Amino acid sequence: MKAFIFDLDGVLVSTDKYHYQAWKKIADKEGIYFDEKINDRLRGVSRMDSLEIILERAEKQYTEEEKLALATEKNDLYRDLLKNLTPADRLAGVTETLEKLKEKGYLLAIGSSSRNTPVILSKIGYDGYFDAVSDGNNITKSKPDPEVFEKAAEMLSLPAKECFVVEDSLAGIDAAKAGGFKAIGIGGAAIYAKTDYPINAITDILKLI
Ligand code: BG6
Ligand code: MG
Repeated sequence: MKAFIFDLDGVLVSTDKYHYQAWKKIADKEGIYFDEKINDRLRGVSRMDSLEIILERAEKQYTEEEKLALATEKNDLYRDLLKNLTPADRLAGVTETLEKLKEKGYLLAIGSSSRNTPVILSKIGYDGYFDAVSDGNNITKSKPDPEVFEKAAEMLSLPAKECFVVEDSLAGIDAAKAGGFKAIGIGGAAIYAKTDYPINAITDILKLI
């Protein structure tokens, strides 16, 4: 194995809680039931697909225009929360794990559905740190489609079978497996049947190599 492709939200940085807070405000305003369990289904999926999941519990039908307005409003709330991000928001063990992998010669990439990836990487002090960044801005199909990871592997000039994918979402594990990658699962993805290597902490990656 030559490389690690990391999901961002909920794997390297605690931005998953900001996605939840922003969507919760939108759902409450619209009178739609939404909780952390439903939020788990939003992990890894695009902004518009996330909105569709939330609207499953809506009593009224939303027009495409209304949906776009809600997604924009959510993103504005989310971007406001991102203003407070600092390198201290990297999740526990991330800094040391990535440094050790680099030392051992592994290539490191990002594979995230988020269009906010560049601003987040910059805020947490990871501008230019990764060998490749594949995100919501360079894909047409969101996870569970493997496109975001395939693009990352292409940027690294490596075949999928030489790359691990590290994910906290079920959609991300499905995407990794569909693309022929080895899937490491953390958080909710650690108890998912399709995950190849379940881990409890990001530092456990160092035991796999
Ligand atoms: C993923 C998150 O990383 O990015 C999803 O897990 C989110 O919850 C998706 O919907 C898209 O993010 P953004 O920042 O483009 O709205
Ligand atoms: Mg995630």
